[in-house]
Amino acid sequence: FEGLPRTRKEIFETLVKGLQRLEYRGYDSAGIGVDGPKKSDSGDTSYICLIKKRGKVKALDEELYKNDSTDLETELDTHFGIAHTRWATHGEPSAVNCHPHRSDKNNEFVVIHNGIITNYKELRKYLISKGYEFESETDTEVIPKLIKYVYDNRENDYVSFSTLVELVIQQLEGAFALVFKSVHFPGEAVATRRGSPLLIGVRSKYELSTEQIPIQYNSNGKSPRGVQQKNFRNRVDSTVALHSVSDRKAVEFYFASDASAIIEHTNKVIYLQDDDIAAVAEGKLSLHRMSRCAGEDPVRAIQTLQMELQQIMKGNFKAFMQKEIFEQPESVFNTMRGRICFDTNTVVLGGLKDHLKEIRRCRRLILIGCGTSFHAGVATRQILEELTELPVMVELASDFLDRITPVFRDDVCFLISQSGETADTLMALRYCQGRGALTVGVTNTVGSSISRETDCGVHINAGPEIGVASTKAYTSQFVALTMFGLMMSEDRISLQKRRLEIINGLRMLPGLIKEVLTLDDKIRSIADELYQQRSLLVMGRGYNYATCLEGALKIKEITYMHSEGILAGELKHGPLALIDKHMPVIMIIMRDACYTKCHNALQQVTARQGRPIILCCQDDPEITRNAYKTIELPQTVDCLQGIISVIPLQLMSFHLAVLRGYDVSHPALTSISILPLK
Ligand code: F6R
Repeated sequence: FEGLPRTRKEIFETLVKGLQRLEYRGYDSAGIGVDGPKKSDSGDTSYICLIKKRGKVKALDEELYKNDSTDLETELDTHFGIAHTRWATHGEPSAVNCHPHRSDKNNEFVVIHNGIITNYKELRKYLISKGYEFESETDTEVIPKLIKYVYDNRENDYVSFSTLVELVIQQLEGAFALVFKSVHFPGEAVATRRGSPLLIGVRSKYELSTEQIPIQYNSNGKSPRGVQQKNFRNRVDSTVALHSVSDRKAVEFYFASDASAIIEHTNKVIYLQDDDIAAVAEGKLSLHRMSRCAGEDPVRAIQTLQMELQQIMKGNFKAFMQKEIFEQPESVFNTMRGRICFDTNTVVLGGLKDHLKEIRRCRRLILIGCGTSFHAGVATRQILEELTELPVMVELASDFLDRITPVFRDDVCFLISQSGETADTLMALRYCQGRGALTVGVTNTVGSSISRETDCGVHINAGPEIGVASTKAYTSQFVALTMFGLMMSEDRISLQKRRLEIINGLRMLPGLIKEVLTLDDKIRSIADELYQQRSLLVMGRGYNYATCLEGALKIKEITYMHSEGILAGELKHGPLALIDKHMPVIMIIMRDACYTKCHNALQQVTARQGRPIILCCQDDPEITRNAYKTIELPQTVDCLQGIISVIPLQLMSFHLAVLRGYDVSHPALTSISILPLK
């Protein structure tokens, strides 16, 4: 903010409110950085005060007022504070791992980061070799250290803050939205993004100087390369910058990753694009880029948001479950990010690589989980058997414990859990540890009990799952376990062709998921026909048996309809008795090794006047002829097909629940209507 005096208390309130608006995304710790009253040890006049706390935003809020050295009533004319809620991906939730991260003990540069830096290990090594000391386990901490390194090696004192940031981001790989603050540039803010969202809210009582901001490109159009480079150019001072017309200072800028954090202050926003650098200095906002590419828009418009807060949080979705279903192109990509190199066809799961030798020597793999997480084990069992050439058992945690299942020192036990806290899975983990087996966590929650207590593990990085019914965690668990199989088989010559086929399938996966999501309207119209039914059977086999179990679980859980996943090979052993023209049946028949067998099952169903709705591959006239309805899906490698085919069932369960009048976000709490059942 500039030219609008605020007390430090008001600044805290604004920042804390912003964090609270983002609480729905899930987080495990929160922190704040503001201009502090205290001078730094180095004698600088400005000092950045950092306050960080594990746990809820409320805990951080309480901490702010405990600290009497923060001088709450002091009024500041120019003030720039930063705050962040962290969802741990590298290092457990703790104050030291929480943002803002700092360059050094004097907090010369501080930064908040949303995203993942995939080359942080190399950068960290380099900076340590240059004498920089790290205090956290995070990927983010390389960023403030790197900017200080660039600053310490500057050739002259005219280097601008945004030029420093520009040099830093050239060294970063991965995804980020970043906001920087520095004692060397008091009252200035610099923010940038690549891959992670970032927007700027603009608030002024007065008319703004412009409705769109032209991008300023570097004068020579070239990028300075390498952190060692000392030839910094000073940024050409901005003449085209945003401020208010009446008083260039009476304007406030809000940087946020999501409009919900700022909507109560302003509905005027600018969405930044990848590699845009936004700088606020002396109350003026200017936007920069390194160089201009052909066809690139040279301006960023100030848009007016018409949305309500709730709507912003859930986007245009009715419920978090629906939002998370639609997030799957990105969430599966995030699971693979930094782990699969599609150029070299290599897969490295950092959390497992030190244990790989031991895992390769083991006698058996045991996959353990509950509910959807168990289904992820069922879904990947076959490909793990093929790629690891080991026996693979898949166990429901509760049953595994009930049976007092024999476990040995040369077993490797995978504990699969989105939350990382499920009691039966946690007990199974302790049980396996007690018997000397190596334990591997597959969780979505860094710092959870399972991720802490296992010997090693994989974080699926699907992002927080808020919907009660698990959707994106399932597809990410699926991908993570498949990647494990690929890593295990890296040096098996006989498996190379198969590995390449799967890696290629993974590369295409986000695109294919997007394609499946376009079938939403069709699936909704089928749900319209089905929602008053009592029961819905889901049938398939082979790689898609798990899809049937998972689809039926989703339907039961949120629609309160009876649903059963049936292995098509078992049809003649009893379940066929249920089939008649009144019983709705969904069948999954893909072009894989089980195609003919599934076709036989289809004939048995139609012979009993069943009217199957069939999930099949595109262009399969044979299936279409025998189906009551088809949902045609893009085809991928057999062992990944389950990721594609589960999505229509996730969507189906969502639409059935809405049509039946249930609150999808809280399925166990709300039951609104009693339906007339056919
Ligand atoms: C179903 C669902 C549950 C969970 C199960 C295990 O939609 O969400 O079946 O999968 O309770 O939870 P996690 O994976 O957290 O251990």
